[in-house]
Amino acid sequence: MNALNPVILCVDDEPGNLKLLERTLGTSGYLVIKASDGREALDIIASRTVDLVLTDVMMPRVDGFEICRRIKGDERYRHIPVVMITALDSKMDRIRGIEAGADEFLAKPYDHGEVLARVKMLLRTKQLDEKLGDSYSNIQNLTSFGSHIMTSFRPAGFDLMTQIDSLANQVIRKDIVGAGRPSTVLVRILTGHVFAWYIYEYDSGELKRSGIDLNMLLCISDKDPTACFSNCPLSLPQFRSLVEILAFSDITVANMTCYLSEMASVFALNYDREVTRFDAAVLESLAMQTLFFMHLAIQIRESDDAFAYTVHSLARASEANDEDTGDHILRVGEYCSIVGQRLGKGDQWVQSIKLQATLHDVGKVHTPSEILKKPGELTPEEWNIMRRHTVKGAKIIGDHPKFSIARQIALSHHERWDGSGYPFGYSGERIPLEGRIMNIADQYDALRNVRVYKPALDHATTVKIITEGDGRTMPHHFDPQVLKAFVDTASLFEEVYEKFTENASLERQASEVLTKTADLGNISDAGMVAIL
Ligand code: C2E
Ligand code: SIN
Ligand code: SIN
Ligand code: FE
Repeated sequence: MNALNPVILCVDDEPGNLKLLERTLGTSGYLVIKASDGREALDIIASRTVDLVLTDVMMPRVDGFEICRRIKGDERYRHIPVVMITALDSKMDRIRGIEAGADEFLAKPYDHGEVLARVKMLLRTKQLDEKLGDSYSNIQNLTSFGSHIMTSFRPAGFDLMTQIDSLANQVIRKDIVGAGRPSTVLVRILTGHVFAWYIYEYDSGELKRSGIDLNMLLCISDKDPTACFSNCPLSLPQFRSLVEILAFSDITVANMTCYLSEMASVFALNYDREVTRFDAAVLESLAMQTLFFMHLAIQIRESDDAFAYTVHSLARASEANDEDTGDHILRVGEYCSIVGQRLGKGDQWVQSIKLQATLHDVGKVHTPSEILKKPGELTPEEWNIMRRHTVKGAKIIGDHPKFSIARQIALSHHERWDGSGYPFGYSGERIPLEGRIMNIADQYDALRNVRVYKPALDHATTVKIITEGDGRTMPHHFDPQVLKAFVDTASLFEEVYEKFTENASLERQASEVLTKTADLGNISDAGMVAIL
């Protein structure tokens, strides 16, 4: 509703009455539109904003009752108050008017003061009703926005820009008129050490984001992160330069709410009505929800990284005792994730097995190094000790739920599908899937790599041993589904093996160079380049 000049439509077939109403209402600041019959009145309502209708009852063609019925029967217009002008003593007219949905009655002849009082009261009620409607839709929006972020929240894939896009989409006005929303959203985001500005506008049915070069300082106060103004852009001096710079880009700011913070600031410009602190609070709420999830995502990622770091450190501990297995622990994690993906496992499952598979041999810290480093075959007694690395590993890993995959893998990665494995001789699906996957990953890598007790084999030979068997390893040791997934993805296994051994050998060369040059007292760039 236009707060300055509410539009009042007066309908009467007597020009004298219309004139009288126009004088009364016009001098009190209302914008009066006149119609001489019902059909004309309905055309006007359909073509422009009308805040209130004052209508006579008796008219040719479409009468006052019919106007009222049409207005109240239409979703688009039913909020418009209708006042019926009846003869003083016509009880029948009033009853028919009530049935038609009239909001008020005025009796002829008019009393100047009464007309103004009724109109003012009805407009005030309508305004409050609209505010209530806005608040209700704001609350609904806030709730649905919050629950949308919550249900779609993925810490690893969290992207602030995507979230800001959806915030802007939530806030911005999508039609030319309506809903007390801003026409433009402006955002400032901290990326690295610089601020980037974006402007959002709705254009031919689509939300458009474009970068905008606003080279200016923003005063951000910890005390009050929100602000708003209506009609008087310069009433808040801290936004003077923003308003001026936007004017250069042909954006005239009439009203604005904003939420300010170092990380992300949001400005909602040019609502189709005056704004209040309540609108600013709604914007703040949306921005805070977005930033809350961003901080949560950062913290979860940090703690995930710390968790991965700890897991890897522990996995490395098991290698200290063993012969040099290079990046064996990282490679097997990769192989497991390849097979897991092939078997259609979800992203989270795949990420977990990739990390936790690295702990499969942690129990080897308890295996004497004479056994681990023995160049020849193991005696039955040595085998007994060797086999314990599975159970010991599970014991080291413990029973924290976060490590349940690691524990299962440590315990079951030497079990075989046909029941001939260890430590328990379980068979088939009694062996956890993670263990069945790890079993094939472990053997692929052990065969490819050199061990004190065996030479390195190439990819083709390794695949042949796994798929056709060599006596020690046999195809029926493997879960047929896992074996098939391995065969289907064998080329990816080869890629992983080549990539990691390349990295490892680069690292080894680099550390050799550093050791040598450190002996010489300085590091020569030319030497580094030559060897790397
Ligand atoms: P690892 O060296 O990491 O080997 C893991 C698994 O890869 C082995 O489990 C086995 O299934 C497969 N594998 C390794 N080398 C060969 C091979 O030359 N041929 C075939 N067909 N498969 C192979 P497994 O047998 O349960 O052995 C577990 C661990 O026991 C091995 O881990 C290694 O640390 C140790 N180990 C196994 N055999 C010997 C050996 O002859 N001498 C010594 N010193 N240690 C051995
Ligand atoms: C253990 O010593 O903890 C495990 C015993 C075994 O299964 O060999
Ligand atoms: C052995 O026990 O001889 C080696 C391990 C196995 O094949 O189960
Ligand atoms: Fe093992």
